[in-house]
Amino acid sequence: MVFDFDTPTNRLNTDSIRWDSFNSKAVLPLWVADMDFKSPPCVIEALSNRVKEGIYGYTHSPHQMNTMIADYLEEQYQWQVDPDWIVILPSVVSGLYTAVQQLTKADEQVLIPNPIYHHLRLACSSAKRSFQEMQLQLKDDRWVLPSNELKNLNTNRAKLALFCNPQNPGSTVFTKEELKEFGDFCIQNNLWICSDEIHAGLVLDENKKHIPLASISKEISNKTITLMSLNKTFNFPGIGLAWAVAENPVLRNAIQVGLHETIAPPSLLAYTATMAAIKDGEPWRLELIQYLRDNRDLIRSKIASIDGLSIGNMEGSYLAWIDCSKLDHQNPHQLFLDAGLATSPGQQFGQNQFVRLNFGTQKARLIQALNIIESSAANLN
Ligand SMILES: Cc1ncc(COP(=O)(O)O)c(C=O)c1O
Repeated sequence: MVFDFDTPTNRLNTDSIRWDSFNSKAVLPLWVADMDFKSPPCVIEALSNRVKEGIYGYTHSPHQMNTMIADYLEEQYQWQVDPDWIVILPSVVSGLYTAVQQLTKADEQVLIPNPIYHHLRLACSSAKRSFQEMQLQLKDDRWVLPSNELKNLNTNRAKLALFCNPQNPGSTVFTKEELKEFGDFCIQNNLWICSDEIHAGLVLDENKKHIPLASISKEISNKTITLMSLNKTFNFPGIGLAWAVAENPVLRNAIQVGLHETIAPPSLLAYTATMAAIKDGEPWRLELIQYLRDNRDLIRSKIASIDGLSIGNMEGSYLAWIDCSKLDHQNPHQLFLDAGLATSPGQQFGQNQFVRLNFGTQKARLIQALNIIESSAANLN
């Protein structure tokens, strides 16, 4: 490996949400979704050069930015996007909240998957919109949206469907057929779609690739806002920049409401980091994927050996969705926390008997976490 993912990084006392939220150094915090790796050297160098300039005035999005993103989408996902369809945002979450506010009225409903990254649900409650959940089911070890689930939904009041691919939590990388089925369902029911694809650069499954939902057909593209970012892949969410892709001008206008007014634009360093990652980050990303695959394999074999725990395929990202429902404990998150490991409680995503473990960390730390899980489970017997 050219890049170093193994040397432990020290993030204590850096105001890290993940590392500095516990008063005890004895807790290993593998919860919030950022990684313990330094960003790629090309990103660090570009940021350092920008910082050394010493002048940080108001900065607009660089002229080449949208074209760079469009070229990147074509290269990575064979998705052809007109640079004019792209809207630069400070974060994916701000895009989710804006989409719900702008694309639904007070008496209209939003469809969201369950389990799901909590901000999809919070975007609805913050806008005071009711939502209906699309239950993912485990089929052939993958968390999917079965056709009968979709057929059973009452979509009379629904106007918008929120989607997440790769899925968080559950890590499904949806296939072309699954995406087409979901997209066609939304078209038949006249639903706008907002597809959160922030984990697109982190496909781990050797037989899968990320397919943007909007790339499936012109009809689906016309209904869809796609939200993407390199924050997760290259590990700079604290700097933050995202973009929306919307072919339909109605959707493009909607996602810009409040931007530069109530929603601040990205900081100048965010443009620098994102462009450096697009330009020179690929070799680092490929090694990261290899490192995460090894971590995934460690988790898979350890969890399979622990009575009461199970896990589906980990197809994408670095978030293991561990089923603890057969463990004799009401609150698995608390059980592991008491033993010194912070996971994200499944309740946050809509499933109490699960925990989500962030494995975007050094192997030694992951092994420590898996040992804590193993001994906590064993102590229950
Ligand atoms: C599915 C998903 N969307 C959005 C985000 C956050 O994106 P941002 O930091 O760009 O707001 C996360 C972070 O964990 C996520 O998992």
